[in-house]
Amino acid sequence: MNDAGGGQSTEPAGLDLSKVKTIEGVDVAGKRVLVRVDFNVPIEGGVVRDATRIERVLPTIAQLARDGAKVVVLSHLGRPKGVANPETSLRPVAEKMQELMQGTSVRFIGDCIGEEVKRGLAQLKPGEVAVLENLRFYPGEEKNDPVFAKALAAHGELYVDDAFSSAHRANASVDAITKLLPSYAGLLMTAEIDALGRALESPERPVMAIVGGAKVSTKIEVLNHLVERMDQLVVGGGMANTFLAAQGVEIGRSFCERDFVPTVQEILARAARSGCEIVLPSDVVVADALKDGADVRICPVGKVPSDAMILDFGPDSVADLKRRLAGIKTVLWNGPLGAFETKPFDESTFALAREVAKLTKQGKLVSVAGGGDTVRALNEAGAADVFTYVATAGGAFLEWLGGATLPGVAALAR
Ligand code: 3PG
Repeated sequence: MNDAGGGQSTEPAGLDLSKVKTIEGVDVAGKRVLVRVDFNVPIEGGVVRDATRIERVLPTIAQLARDGAKVVVLSHLGRPKGVANPETSLRPVAEKMQELMQGTSVRFIGDCIGEEVKRGLAQLKPGEVAVLENLRFYPGEEKNDPVFAKALAAHGELYVDDAFSSAHRANASVDAITKLLPSYAGLLMTAEIDALGRALESPERPVMAIVGGAKVSTKIEVLNHLVERMDQLVVGGGMANTFLAAQGVEIGRSFCERDFVPTVQEILARAARSGCEIVLPSDVVVADALKDGADVRICPVGKVPSDAMILDFGPDSVADLKRRLAGIKTVLWNGPLGAFETKPFDESTFALAREVAKLTKQGKLVSVAGGGDTVRALNEAGAADVFTYVATAGGAFLEWLGGATLPGVAALAR
């Protein structure tokens, strides 16, 4: 990136991040600036349930407003599939923004293209903010339609993308629009690219990745990409069972993707070639069912009874991870270690989250996490605020970990 933030060595192959322009120093006074954000937030009964994604873009919006821009906010919400649907209206989000931005006028406009928008924006003054209605009410958004992009671009003079978490979607407001307006990365986008890029491509070593979740099949690219870059890769969640099965370990009735055993064997071989140690549990928490308050037992890996299911890492495995972390400088985390939504299978994830938080606070570890479940687990463990960086992205974070070039980032680097 062309400010102090980015580094030449942090980009995925084929992408020159030094070409990404940031909003620092851009003269926005009196100009209409379109800001693409990701306000895909949980809403229940017309009320925003988690405002994290709104809070994280406020610095960009506040800075532009302070510098005299007329700020026009663009976002999608949910998957309304090209049809207007009051359940996925951005009105409650605009209301939440107004609550969070006391002293700044935030108005909602009930469409994102057309006459109503033109009239509304004509009244917008420098320092004021307008939130347009859900972009996905029009099919052109997800089709990356240049005509829809042109109608959006007509609302402003400059474009700022602050939605890293939508950057894996080649949508009109993410990609096509950048061909029509001078385009910049917002503060959050800049920070996400920088933190994630640094942790993945030029981390302080030794570097460990913790990848959990149920299915190997959804994270093959991620695992393949990480084994080439990490010193240690901890595999958790249901995925660990498939790794154990691939090594011929008896796993009882545990969730396992048997069809992916050959894929896992290839990943193990690749890891061995590139010197990445794959870390699996040495003991596990088992039960006969995944339910609250189930009867649980701890058993060594290899001694899982044939009628039991593995549902979490055991205490020896957690102790092993803590010992390992003491020698690690950077950790990248995506996915819980156990079935953390159900007690007591949350224990290893929470214990590890607290350990990473402790080491981060002591300045011994750079910790970067992302993904919906991971962020939830870190929040529940009270650890999220202490991590060096917690990404707002879910799908985009995974694609980035898998080495994909994200269309939204590529568009800014064009
Ligand atoms: C997300 O929440 O990950 C982004 O907003 C993308 O949403 P989508 O998966 O509906 O495109």
